[in-house]
Amino acid sequence: MKIGYLGVGAIASHMIEGFCGLDDRHEFFLSPRNEVKSAMLANKYANVNVCGSNQGVVDESEIVFISMNAASCPEALNELRFTGGEMVINLVATIPPEDIRAAIGPVRSFYHVVPLPFISRRVGPIAAYPESAELRKLLEPMGTVVFAGNMEEIRIMQAITALMSSFYEMLHHLTVFAETEGLGREAAISFTSTFFGALCQRAESFRGGDLHTLALEMTPGGLNEYCLKTLTESRVIKAWADILPSVMMKIKPE
Ligand SMILES: NC(=O)c1ccc[n+]([C@@H]2O[C@H](COP(=O)([O-])OP(=O)(O)OC[C@H]3O[C@@H](n4cnc5c(N)ncnc54)[C@H](OP(=O)(O)O)[C@@H]3O)[C@@H](O)[C@H]2O)c1
Repeated sequence: MKIGYLGVGAIASHMIEGFCGLDDRHEFFLSPRNEVKSAMLANKYANVNVCGSNQGVVDESEIVFISMNAASCPEALNELRFTGGEMVINLVATIPPEDIRAAIGPVRSFYHVVPLPFISRRVGPIAAYPESAELRKLLEPMGTVVFAGNMEEIRIMQAITALMSSFYEMLHHLTVFAETEGLGREAAISFTSTFFGALCQRAESFRGGDLHTLALEMTPGGLNEYCLKTLTESRVIKAWADILPSVMMKIKPE
């Protein structure tokens, strides 16, 4: 497919790296902004081209990703002419998708997608709305596509992504503990990250089940029970979920 990106910043670069790392099944048409990032991608991949203008991107593409800063939308989009035959995928998180849609006018199909930086390695979740076979086909090689039933569900998934830094910080503290006790840094990071990765894989395969069941799979009176009880009593575990209503408020569309 011919795929265009309006805005080549952090997330567009991660997506293009992910697509191009897979194979060269798609051809890419990038906006001139950001000049450095667009040129870097075009130098690296033969199937990546930089257009002279945003309109050039639209003119060349069957699928158009809107990946510019919110501050540039919807003014920049108002200036563009779509033929009406494009599939448009909005990545802009902080503007109601209806406003983006109104700015571009009628198109063949319109989606809202939330990619995350590790899409560059084609892993992790990709939240998307609404569900469709064409969007699934495009994004499935890039990670785990999780379709939302409405935009509110997108917001719930977006809120959970706000815990990324806290999670890494928690892992950091565990590795600092391990190093302080005498384990080498490399072993500490390798062991801790693959341990939590394996726990998440187990949880993922438990689809439709109650994850609390996994928490109860422990030796009575054992070390896991000791940690669960102590951390529950100090409210540390539930604090992760308790912060999310305030995150939801912060990402509420105006
Ligand atoms: N980062 C993420 O993990 C993530 C995840 C999901 C969704 N998003 C959404 O994706 C969008 C981009 O995020 P980002 O993190 O990639 O931001 P970013 O790194 O700041 O990239 C935005 C890009 O848009 C370009 N741009 C600005 N005005 C433009 C215009 N009129 N025409 C064409 N390009 C223009 C900027 O170019 P200059 O550098 O020349 O100004 C910049 O390269 C945001 O709306 C964000 O909500 C981001």
